[in-house]
Amino acid sequence: MGVQAVSALMRSGTGGYVSITTSVSRPKITTSTIQEKKQRHEPITSLTAYDYATARLVDEAGIDVILVGDSLAMVVLGYENTLPVTMEEMLHHVRAVRRAVKHALLVADMPYASYHVSSKEGLHNAARFVKQAGAEAVKIEGGEKRVNLIRRLIDAEIPVFGHIGLTPQSVNTMGGYKVQGKTVAAIDQLMRDAIAIDRAGVSAMILEGIPREVASMITAEVKCPTIGIGAGPDCDGQILVLHDILNLTFAAPAKFVRRYGDAGALISTAVNAFKNDVERHAYPSDEESYHLPKDTRAAVTGVGTKRGIHLKERVV
Ligand code: KIV
Repeated sequence: MGVQAVSALMRSGTGGYVSITTSVSRPKITTSTIQEKKQRHEPITSLTAYDYATARLVDEAGIDVILVGDSLAMVVLGYENTLPVTMEEMLHHVRAVRRAVKHALLVADMPYASYHVSSKEGLHNAARFVKQAGAEAVKIEGGEKRVNLIRRLIDAEIPVFGHIGLTPQSVNTMGGYKVQGKTVAAIDQLMRDAIAIDRAGVSAMILEGIPREVASMITAEVKCPTIGIGAGPDCDGQILVLHDILNLTFAAPAKFVRRYGDAGALISTAVNAFKNDVERHAYPSDEESYHLPKDTRAAVTGVGTKRGIHLKERVV
């Protein structure tokens, strides 16, 4: 159990409102918690986070699952797609998020080529996320073809999140970022992928970029929770990229993205205001400056030279 501060407005005796801050205990989210949520039909909430500050805010808001997604390649590191991001870069961000997260289940996304060459290498890299960065589960993209790797990871006590449908690491073989599962054959393959990784023991599966109807069938079919992104409302939970919901991506949002805030505008306004204040000598003010203690001030003379203030004993 962890303790979380919660503030609420309460009616005071005089008819006004007072703010009450209280502490509530919040249990640690585990893979069992999200499985139980599926059984109780309680929606699972999930967001990405890539650094200490945002991960803290996301965790303190009570989000169930925090994914350090390889989407950081694009939204934080400025790469064109997710393929170039390395294990070392991912580890660096997972460690930062680990230091912030107290309650949420922390999932590390395995980057492209960290598990594609061999299961042995996949196992080695997954173990690095757990041992060297504190991840509690790893996520891998792909269906049937990942079954052996999933089994090996679970054998090594590493919980696995699957990811099927529009899998961004397959951008070159998919021929772009396209909604998947639109033909009968494609739906059939998606169902086989979902059932295969569910039976292999994944703790949850991300369903990305597939028709609502297909996501709904998969959700009804599999034992593990499904977490959708662009997969409609019938999944057991929903995940979005934090930078998408905050307007920090510099690109037109996908159809499924809902913007909950405009951090882009907030940051631009603040940065411009700072720039203007400095340029018109309005920042910092005297109140925002440090001052000498009285006795030191007495020992200092303000004899102005080009080089500034001199101590009395040095000038006399
Ligand atoms: O990398 C990522 O952020 C993801 C989510 C979109 C599911 O894989």
